[in-house]
Amino acid sequence: MKMLKILLLFTCICVGLSNAVLYDCFTGVPVNRTLLAIYEQRNNVGNCTIEIKPCNATEWKRVDGSCNNLKHPSRGTHRTPSYRVLPPVFSVAYEPRKAVSGGPLPLPRRLRTELLLVGKASERRITQLASYYIIFMIADVVSIHDVVNYVLNITTCCTPEGRRDYECTPIKIPVDDPVHRYSGVNCMNLTRPQSYQTYGCLDNGTTFERIVFQTPVFDLSNTYNIMPGFIDHLRTYENGLMIEEEEDGQLFPPTDPNSNLCILNQPPRETRCFKYQLNNVMSSSTINILFYRQHNQIARELHRLNPRWGDERLFYTARDINMAISVQIFFYELLPILFGKKNMIRDGIIGHGGFRDLYDENVEPRMSDEYIYGMRWFHLIQKTDLKLYDKDGHYVRSFPLVNGTARTGFFAVDNNMQHIVQGSFRQLGGRFDQAIDYDMADRVLGGIFFSADVAASDLKKGRYFGLQPYVNYKEFCTNKKYTSFEDLEDSFSFERLDRLMEMYKDPKDIDLMAGLWGENPIKGGKIPSTLYCLFAEQLKRTLKSDRHWFERPNRPHAFTEDQLKAIRKVTIAGVLCSIGDLVSEIQPHAFCSISSDNPLTKCSSSKIGKLDLTPWKDHSCQ
Ligand SMILES: *[C@@H]1O[C@H](CO)[C@@H](O)[C@H](O)[C@H]1NC(C)=O
Ligand SMILES: *[C@@H]1O[C@H](CO)[C@@H](O)[C@H](O)[C@H]1NC(C)=O
Ligand SMILES: *[C@@H]1O[C@H](CO)[C@@H](O)[C@H](O)[C@H]1NC(C)=O
Ligand SMILES: *[C@@H]1O[C@H](CO)[C@@H](O)[C@H](O)[C@H]1NC(C)=O
Ligand SMILES: *[C@@H]1O[C@H](CO)[C@@H](O)[C@H](O)[C@H]1NC(C)=O
Ligand SMILES: *[C@@H]1O[C@H](CO)[C@@H](O)[C@H](O)[C@H]1NC(C)=O
Ligand SMILES: *[C@@H]1O[C@H](CO)[C@@H](O)[C@H](O)[C@H]1NC(C)=O
Repeated sequence: MKMLKILLLFTCICVGLSNAVLYDCFTGVPVNRTLLAIYEQRNNVGNCTIEIKPCNATEWKRVDGSCNNLKHPSRGTHRTPSYRVLPPVFSVAYEPRKAVSGGPLPLPRRLRTELLLVGKASERRITQLASYYIIFMIADVVSIHDVVNYVLNITTCCTPEGRRDYECTPIKIPVDDPVHRYSGVNCMNLTRPQSYQTYGCLDNGTTFERIVFQTPVFDLSNTYNIMPGFIDHLRTYENGLMIEEEEDGQLFPPTDPNSNLCILNQPPRETRCFKYQLNNVMSSSTINILFYRQHNQIARELHRLNPRWGDERLFYTARDINMAISVQIFFYELLPILFGKKNMIRDGIIGHGGFRDLYDENVEPRMSDEYIYGMRWFHLIQKTDLKLYDKDGHYVRSFPLVNGTARTGFFAVDNNMQHIVQGSFRQLGGRFDQAIDYDMADRVLGGIFFSADVAASDLKKGRYFGLQPYVNYKEFCTNKKYTSFEDLEDSFSFERLDRLMEMYKDPKDIDLMAGLWGENPIKGGKIPSTLYCLFAEQLKRTLKSDRHWFERPNRPHAFTEDQLKAIRKVTIAGVLCSIGDLVSEIQPHAFCSISSDNPLTKCSSSKIGKLDLTPWKDHSCQ
């Protein structure tokens, strides 16, 4: 039986060798003539299908994500449908669910102002850098198309015209709103999340399926641009290098002078705008620039060690190392601080240091909606007054983080990139509590809109995604039933549960995000228990479903034992030392605050976990 399966697999690969196959993005199966004709008629072939060259079981991880799963080659590319931990729930016509009473759920903005405190507080032991890295890792698996949609494309949601637009789902502001009763604003812009239906890939009236334009595996989607063919514009095709541009002595990915995406750039000085990377929030762009540079640094060193290697080998080896570092830092350095290391080991999210192989070809590479959505909880810990420091550790000035949204040009002037990097590991991050920073609560998009409330949007989006009530997820996680508010007494402080009881009539009404905002943290960690459970669920799927997972000993081009050891040594401090802007000293655990246990240390010290590429020296060349 097994033999037959292997034979079949090979037959398919061989048949397809000569030509690429067109796959349907949603179903993941090759498109037949009937379906192609429908897509052609709708003029959306490019949106609903993806062309994939025949897979080769021994090739590198492809930039566009295809062929990760050899049985389902399109799974793992952009527009792979998401996984659902619990099936979606809606009322009629895929509109948000109703309360148990049959009436509407409370207004999202009301819930936000009633459930969250607004203000500033620092987390004693965690730096701003941690929040930057979290957002960077979210941006690897989720696209910002929904934000682009209501910021750039459909900007009339709060006008009479917008009220008639199906795509508009503006946030209603209660008349007694604590902030906007003084401003007169009674509506905030928001559009319906885009789906396969929006792009005509599924018929209207079929179950809402959210569309995501990022690959559902950790592969530095923004650094390398996973859109099919785009990588060709980023490679120099010489010695494995990517195209870099220098401005004011600093290196950046290529710019597009005609782009209209960097809305907050202040010309004439700030003109830089990524051509092939997301022009995103400042925090994730900062880390992305660093990983982009790191690719070239790795490629140059590999070339020095192995002068005979060709461009292709240098490029893919450098990319592979770069991706492995991004994930090593995320799983082994950052998440243990937030999730609790013991919890992660118990649940098999991290191992003990050696190789691990949990791959199962029957598990498709997908991200759960709940993981992607749950990441929005971290909006609560985002501190928005950035403290900028110079290379010698002197405080320069503060800057409102939200003023840097979609403002890539800012990085390249006034040594801002250097000052942001230097500040990231010196400034304390926002507290893990039930308070949200002023700018997150009422500005978020800087000057793009007069006012926007990220947490109210988060809550509202959850309803449009069809997420089940909080208690159902809690039940999924604990196998216990939660039918009354008393059943939740162990999971909330008296005060937090009291607020929920004020706002919701029935525990089954509680929105997932509203529950997460108040829930007690997991033992040993800093995030709510149910959130931890949903994250763990996804990360375990990631380990099973990513054939190219860096810890696998038998993936194509797998690391040797010494190479894996070298990857394990790299810390975020080491990354900043080697490519950060004039970083010459840093604390060894840079997600943790500077302290007597974690003092500023010279980059040259062996206490800083830097990348040593000697295990990649190819002795077969000699
Ligand atoms: C073509 O593909 C669609 C969707 O995958 C399927 O429903 C349909 O039955 C197929 N038609 C033929 C003629 O195979
Ligand atoms: C994709 O969809 C958008 C919006 O519906 C449409 O404007 C565009 O032409 C489509 N592109 C392709 C390549 O099908
Ligand atoms: C598959 O890829 C490997 C390199 O990764 C290459 O040596 C081999 O020739 C490829 N096989 C086919 C059939 O293209
Ligand atoms: C916004 O509009 C542009 C131009 O019509 C289109 O190319 C793009 O896909 C749209 N973006 C979204 C997120 O709908
Ligand atoms: C679905 O509805 C939208 C908006 O009403 C419309 O523009 C689109 O053409 C419809 N799609 C299909 C496949 O009928
Ligand atoms: C931030 O943006 C707001 C709104 O556009 C503006 O009023 C303020 O001056 C900006 N602050 C800085 C420091 O750029
Ligand atoms: C909504 O968007 C419009 C158009 O961009 C903008 O003028 C308005 O200020 C926005 N509303 C709020 C509350 O920011």
